[in-house]
Amino acid sequence: MNELEEIKNKIDIVEDVGKYVQLKQSGRNFKGLCPFHSEKTPSFMVSPEKQIWHCFGCNEGGDIISFTEKIEGLSFPDTIKELASRTGVKLSQNFKGRKEPTDSVFAINELACLHFEKLLKESEGKRAYEYLKKRGLTDKTMAEFRLGFSPVRGDILTQELATLGFAKSDLAKAGVSNSNDNRFYDQFRGRLMFPIANVQGKVIGFSARVLDDSLPKYINTPETPIYHKSNILFGMDKAKEQARKQDHLILVEGNMDMIFSYQAGVKNVVASSGTALTEAQLDLIKRFTKNIKIAFDVDMAGQNATKRAIELAQDKGFNIKVIEVPEGKDPADLVRNDPKKWINACKKAKYVVDYTFDSTFSHYDITNILDKKRATKELLATISRLPDPVEKEHYLQILAQQIGVSLQALVEALHKFKSAKGNQTKATQKPKAVIEETKTKTTLEERIFSLLLVSPQYSDFFFNKINPEDFENDKLIRFVAELYDLNEQGEVDIKKWLKKQKPEDRDYINKLTFEIEDEFPEANEEIMGEELFNGVLRLRQEGYEAAKKKLNRKIYEAEKEENAKLVKDLMAELQFLIEKERNI
Ligand code: UTP
Ligand code: MN
Repeated sequence: MNELEEIKNKIDIVEDVGKYVQLKQSGRNFKGLCPFHSEKTPSFMVSPEKQIWHCFGCNEGGDIISFTEKIEGLSFPDTIKELASRTGVKLSQNFKGRKEPTDSVFAINELACLHFEKLLKESEGKRAYEYLKKRGLTDKTMAEFRLGFSPVRGDILTQELATLGFAKSDLAKAGVSNSNDNRFYDQFRGRLMFPIANVQGKVIGFSARVLDDSLPKYINTPETPIYHKSNILFGMDKAKEQARKQDHLILVEGNMDMIFSYQAGVKNVVASSGTALTEAQLDLIKRFTKNIKIAFDVDMAGQNATKRAIELAQDKGFNIKVIEVPEGKDPADLVRNDPKKWINACKKAKYVVDYTFDSTFSHYDITNILDKKRATKELLATISRLPDPVEKEHYLQILAQQIGVSLQALVEALHKFKSAKGNQTKATQKPKAVIEETKTKTTLEERIFSLLLVSPQYSDFFFNKINPEDFENDKLIRFVAELYDLNEQGEVDIKKWLKKQKPEDRDYINKLTFEIEDEFPEANEEIMGEELFNGVLRLRQEGYEAAKKKLNRKIYEAEKEENAKLVKDLMAELQFLIEKERNI
């Protein structure tokens, strides 16, 4: 048995999923509200027998590994590690693979974090502690975020970790030490320490702020094997649960903004840490929600960052709102002033298009023709990105009114704008992410096939009546052919057969069986047998109908060409078909 199977054997999927989703028994399966998309009627199912899950709303499914991956927002290797430690399964060296060398990097960062935390409480960190107090952070918040202080003197941490047995070169690799002519010293000195955690809450680096006005204000961990600035959102580990529950995430610029918002009770918040939002960060967010509210600073840099973030997020299919923070302030200031101000600002977030309109008109003086043109161009760009035609028209009308131009003229401008833009970006544009909310309709042949899977006792009847060629769907033809052969050899063991299928085929098959099991929760053999019987008849009938249609067309063509011999042969074939159909 390999490790993955060992892990899966030790976990009961119903119990594990039940920690995240309220499940109710329904026939031989369990049902609940899907944690991965918002819904009011349950379409998320878990099978205790097969130890799998499937959601008919988002059309996704899999085993406990894929569930944990998705719900915890972990990578595959991290999921395996997590589940292995939960179940006490030992992973082989081979499985841990290249992840192994990063273990010491994690350990070093964790120890450094403990070191900084401790120092904040001691006399050396008093100034930092007081600074935080003065800004309004509570002890509880400081502890929750594990804030700390780095010693002012040169290489305290480096020495301390070295005595614990870590190689200095590893300390540098982990980003806590730095070397100069082979002398190692601490990377962070005399600064307020904000540990940066990955999605699971493990410390992977630090953001370190000065306590006065000196520059640079922040020093961050350099790129390390575990810290990649462009993939990280500060606070994601703390925000993820609420982001999923409330189905939206608030994006702020500064670490302090994130922490203050959290302290004020708005916990579905992360900080981009001053960098332009990246695709990797958006992909991370997407694991938890598709709705974001952006609350970047109102300065020039902040506004530009907002604009870029909006474009990037729109292209990734996010729904976006913008939280307006009064000029010259940031979310942290608002909270400090009065937490309700921040809470209200979040509630009053503006739909992204309305925001863009307002901000564009406040920037340009549209009595000036040049400004008017620029404003129009910018807003047309926004409008052209809207996926919904009704919405497009709505905002075109508003724009027409605001700038005093006819709707017709704007529609023309939009078309021109689009074709120009289309030519220029086509090559680089990626297809937009679409959420498939609609159930794909199951075909008759899919239904028959899944009925066979859940009641294999009817295999003999099935294969007497039907051939793989009676199916149209390539996948089903292959499946039925394989089962046909197995049936010839004796017993059909569906479970064993299923195990040999490729993962994507297995997902497809699981989805089909879930559908049938949902339809027949009592799993009454007789009724299901009858359904199978009727279905097979209908499929064969449909097959004959289609074949007859084809033949009739051929006969018609042959008659037109006055090919008497061919007509006669085809007629005989038709006769034969009709005969067979009668004997179904
Ligand atoms: P801000 O200057 O807005 O800082 O930069 P802040 O977090 O709000 O800090 P306060 O309120 O002055 O205490 C926003 C973010 O940009 C990154 C940091 O992550 C910061 O949180 N930054 C800023 C840097 O990385 N380096 C810098 O020198 C400045
Ligand atoms: Mn700030």
